[in-house]
Amino acid sequence: MTDTEERGNILTLPDISPEQDKIRSQIQTYSTRYRELMAYYRCAIMEVETKFKVLNEELSLQYDRNPIETIKTRLKSPDSIANKMAVNHLAPTVDNIEKYLNDVAGVRVICGFREDIYSLAEMFLRQDDITLIQKKDYLKNPKPNGYRSLHLIVEIPIFLHDEKRPMKVEVQFRTISMDWWASLEHKIRYKKDVTIPESVSRELCECAEAAAVLDNRMEQIRKLIELTNKSDDKAL
Ligand code: GTP
Ligand code: MG
Repeated sequence: MTDTEERGNILTLPDISPEQDKIRSQIQTYSTRYRELMAYYRCAIMEVETKFKVLNEELSLQYDRNPIETIKTRLKSPDSIANKMAVNHLAPTVDNIEKYLNDVAGVRVICGFREDIYSLAEMFLRQDDITLIQKKDYLKNPKPNGYRSLHLIVEIPIFLHDEKRPMKVEVQFRTISMDWWASLEHKIRYKKDVTIPESVSRELCECAEAAAVLDNRMEQIRKLIELTNKSDDKAL
């Protein structure tokens, strides 16, 4: 009888070679460090989300309306992390995840109006613990498929019991209609290996443009109402 067999009711651990033992301990270390890193990203997401909630609260007092409609957060899944590492030919190490992936932690801020996006982004970036790493303005320069959004990669510190750790977070700002379009387009197409006829791509892009036109009109209407009420106040 070997150690791998059952002795009565007692199941003993199998003998493992030093090589297997080394691999097992590497996997254990890797999985502990991976879980730790994901916990740090979750903390960074909480920090960023809180900053936007604070800004929204303050601005709603000042202007009597909430510039933020919704905040969505997500931690990149292990499958997506693995895919991105493979696509970018990166060795699958915890260090490489932290060093090369900018979007493990994601925060999406959905605003009512385009103008609010720029004000919020500016207020957020002015905070002295935020470091801007990268900015992509797909509002001013929409992607050829019609995608619109303002993307920031920032670094924000999280405070652990014995250290201050800078973590990267991707923040996407969209209006409700940009988010509506991007969510549906993502379902239909984004990064899927489906063939889409040119005419359908064009149609999708036209939908994004129609949404942008509506965003503009709604913003003009809001301004007009604000202006009318200001002059009414003066008249009183
Ligand atoms: P990823 O490898 O997807 O992270 O893209 P990237 O590193 O080139 O960065 P980019 O800033 O262009 O895009 C980051 C994220 O924005 C994506 O992961 C999506 O969530 C979103 N995004 C970018 N382009 C599109 C698009 O054409 N359609 C949709 N629905 N979402 C997009
Ligand atoms: Mg991404």
